[in-house]
Amino acid sequence: MGILPFAPALLKKFLLKPGSFWASLEVWVEKDRSLTMTDHILMCPPVYFEVKYSINPWMENQIGKVDRALALNQWYSFHQLLCQHANVELISPSKETPDMVFTANCGLVWGSNFIPSRFRHPQRQPEEPLFTEWFRQKGFDILHLPESITFEGGGDALPSCDSSFLWAGEGFRTHAKTHRILARELNCRVISLHLMNPHFYHLDTCLCPLNDGVVLYYPPAFDPPSIDLIEQNARETIIVSDEDALSLTCNAVLVESSLYMNSASKMLRDKLEAIGYTVSILPMSEFMKAGGANKCLTFSWKTSRP
Ligand code: ARG
Repeated sequence: MGILPFAPALLKKFLLKPGSFWASLEVWVEKDRSLTMTDHILMCPPVYFEVKYSINPWMENQIGKVDRALALNQWYSFHQLLCQHANVELISPSKETPDMVFTANCGLVWGSNFIPSRFRHPQRQPEEPLFTEWFRQKGFDILHLPESITFEGGGDALPSCDSSFLWAGEGFRTHAKTHRILARELNCRVISLHLMNPHFYHLDTCLCPLNDGVVLYYPPAFDPPSIDLIEQNARETIIVSDEDALSLTCNAVLVESSLYMNSASKMLRDKLEAIGYTVSILPMSEFMKAGGANKCLTFSWKTSRP
């Protein structure tokens, strides 16, 4: 919710300027809140991962080119590190779904609800019942979206740092209609952003909500009204360069104040460290051949500690 939940976005942006009294109070409140929350992360071992078809520009010319031993290595190093900082859970891979390793796309957790994805491409649709069953067994209430729409879960729906609203992407995989349905069914504010660049076909490839209302993003992936929306609703934005964006730097995993990313220029790393983040670089070259990096390999949600 933040410390000024009902203030208009522009006023908040002014009051919460880095270094202000309100900003430091919010940092403190956020820290306190994060100590009472458990971070859960769902991952899927890349046993059957390969590029078998092409459904995004990164996959073109990559069919059959994954170095499988390297992919396993990259994934296991990442998994091991995350296990030290979060409650990491696994879902069994399936032979028929090589992209299932990208658990970010399983759906969306909102309170006690799990909203399963409705994949745009038939190649990924067999993942839907597998993820749904996993969350059902964990005790979530399953909320199905209409069959006529598409939704790619955590790829296109990112809870704000305090889970008070959703940043949502549309244009390639998720229908704009879906955003309105989510807002109505979940009774939450959804900030609908239009994606423009086929290389950044999921919102999590070009925008990463950090703590305390800071948003890391790549403006050329969005149309001008969406850029305005991001600037109005973030307390502070950090803009990434073309080079960082093309290394899928925005596809970062955040656990408390640690960021795990595929790569970062020195300039970006310095900026992030200056505002209190620890940056760990875990290269994901093999998964980038399928159009995904660190964040795509994880699906996160939080629960309150009893
Ligand atoms: N090959 C996968 C696809 O095109 C990659 C998914 C990446 N996931 C993400 N959350 N951006 O669907």
